[in-house]
Amino acid sequence: MPEEHAEARAPVPPPGGELSPEAKRGVYEAIFGRRDVRSFRPDSVPEDVLARILAAAHHAPSVGFMQPWDFLLVKDLEARRRVKHLFDEVRRAEARLFDEPRRTKHLSMKLEGILDAPLNLCVTCDPTRGGSQVLGRGSIPETDVYSTCLAVQNLWLAARAEGVGVGWVSIVTNDGLREIFGIPSHVVLVAYLCVGYPEGGFLDEPMLQKNGWRDRLPLDSLVRHEAWSQPAFPEPG
Ligand SMILES: Cc1cc2nc3c(=O)[nH]c(=O)nc-3n(C[C@H](O)[C@H](O)[C@H](O)COP(=O)(O)O)c2cc1C
Repeated sequence: MPEEHAEARAPVPPPGGELSPEAKRGVYEAIFGRRDVRSFRPDSVPEDVLARILAAAHHAPSVGFMQPWDFLLVKDLEARRRVKHLFDEVRRAEARLFDEPRRTKHLSMKLEGILDAPLNLCVTCDPTRGGSQVLGRGSIPETDVYSTCLAVQNLWLAARAEGVGVGWVSIVTNDGLREIFGIPSHVVLVAYLCVGYPEGGFLDEPMLQKNGWRDRLPLDSLVRHEAWSQPAFPEPG
C-alpha cells in the first residue's frame, strides 16, 4: 500500500485555510462518538479505508518529527488465537486483584475482540528511529512513546470517521506479544488493537460507565489554575 496513494485520497483543508463548519463539526463528532469497541462483525475493512486510517495515524505529531511508529497488521487466526490465550491468562490474574463483587464483574465483561475482529494491529515504537540524537527528546526520552500514542489516537479517530471500530487490548503482556510476533528487543510495544466494523454500532457512552464500573469525572474537578496547589474549584472572590 504505497503511502502517496493513501495520502492522495485523504481529505485535507486548503493550505492555511479554516475548516468548514461541517468539517469542524465532524471533528467533534468523531471525538465524542469514538468508543472502545469489543464486538465486531466478521466483514473485513476495505483496503482503501484501511489505507486512509493508517495515513491518519502516520500524520500524528512526533518529537523531532521522529515518526517512531510501526504498524504490524495481523489477520492470521493462529497468531490471534495465541494472543487470545495470553489475554485469558492475564485477565484471570488481573481479576484476582479485585475484591468481590468487582472480581465477578471484571470477569463478566467482554474486554477484547481479538478473534471476532477481522484485523488486529500492533503499534510499536522504535526508540532508535532518527539516530542517536532526536530534536526535542534529549531530556525526556519517553516522548517517543508519547508520539506513538498520538498516532494511535489519530488512528482511532479516523477509524471512527470511517465507521470502523477500534478496541485497545492491554490485558496481555508485552513479552508475550514480542514472542508471538518476533518483535526485536529494542522496539517498544505500545498498543494492541482490534479493528473492524462494530457489531451493533457504537455505544453512546463508555461500556465501563454503562456497566457501573466507573463514571466520567467532572471536567471542572481536573482543571487547575496557575499552580498545582490551587483548588480545582477556586472559591469565588
Ligand atoms: C491504554 C489503554 C488500554 C486499554 N485496555 C483495554 C483493555 O484491555 N480492554 C478493554 O476492554 N478496554 C481497554 N481500553 C479501553 C478503555 O476501557 C476505554 O477507553 C474507557 O473505558 C473509555 O471508554 P471509551 O474509549 O469507549 O470512551 C483501554 C484504553 C486505553 C487508552
